[in-house]
Amino acid sequence: MNRTATSRRVALSALVAATVAAAILLAAGPAGARQPEDVVLNVGHRGASGYAPEHTFAAYDLALRMGADYIEQDLQMTSDGVLVVLHDETLDRTARPTAESGPGDCTGLVREKTLAQIKTCDVGSWFNEAYPQYARPEYVGLKIPTLEEVFQRYRKSVNYYIETKSPEAAPGMEEELLRLMDEYGLTRPAAERWQVLIQSFSPASLQKVHALDPSLPLIQLFSGAETGETIQAKLDATAAYAVGIGPSKDDVDAALVEAAHARCLDVHPYTVNESAEMERLIAAGVDGMFTNFPDRLDAVLGKSAVDGRKHAAVLAKRANDACRGAGGHERRPSDGI
Ligand code: G3P
Ligand code: CA
Repeated sequence: MNRTATSRRVALSALVAATVAAAILLAAGPAGARQPEDVVLNVGHRGASGYAPEHTFAAYDLALRMGADYIEQDLQMTSDGVLVVLHDETLDRTARPTAESGPGDCTGLVREKTLAQIKTCDVGSWFNEAYPQYARPEYVGLKIPTLEEVFQRYRKSVNYYIETKSPEAAPGMEEELLRLMDEYGLTRPAAERWQVLIQSFSPASLQKVHALDPSLPLIQLFSGAETGETIQAKLDATAAYAVGIGPSKDDVDAALVEAAHARCLDVHPYTVNESAEMERLIAAGVDGMFTNFPDRLDAVLGKSAVDGRKHAAVLAKRANDACRGAGGHERRPSDGI
């Protein structure tokens, strides 16, 4: 072989080696970046609330059967200090009186009612009236669950995604949540494998939880009044106490996901109900999403849906840890609030 041919071969080898190295670097991404194969969590928003009355055992059971990795709980507190699972601050939209109800038991603010009053209400009938195509006789008479009843029903067999709702109007909500998690043995599983994710629109509520127990994984929600840019401006502050963000789906694009991932914050948009939206957000790199239709997300994910819901949470936690270990922001117990 003459010198020219040898030089060409050496140059070609170097080019191939450089190309392979570049491809590996591109695939690996910058330190701390999430990987394309990372899990996409399927969060049953208020359960499978597209098909069954929200925040009932019927909706939670259905979400789990449809492939949800998490079931979501929105918390309200009764006047006698019990955490119940209901989205709205008032009973008006979803509660209807029954023969047991006294006057006014099933309207008005939850925090002005006792648990006994609230337990007289029916939260299934409204759904049958609003969604006759999904109506079922067994939904009539369904009750508002307490958080404790939810923990008693599912124990450690599922993952919970729990929101402190209007926490400023319910002092002690965070302490009671953490007390119940302790009582049902969910505190360590939350910290170690994200069996419980705690979410809130209120930074103060999450910062309070963080101060009470810095090991707990927290998700900062952002309202639809924000934009991708305003959320980006808050990511550094959020990363001081949270492991992820929950933006409105319309605020999410690849730039926001990249900015969040650069700080090792997972991105879980809400509320994503159409398959095309799910596909767009997965392409943008999100790590999960809230949906009223967990079966649709399961179908979109197809083979990439993680088999076994507990495993999905473990993989998500592991990916987040790997990001932090690879040079992203690392939370410490001493982080300020
Ligand atoms: O928690 C995520 C999403 O549920 C926030 O909106 O109003 O349905 O609680 P909302
Ligand atoms: Ca919620």
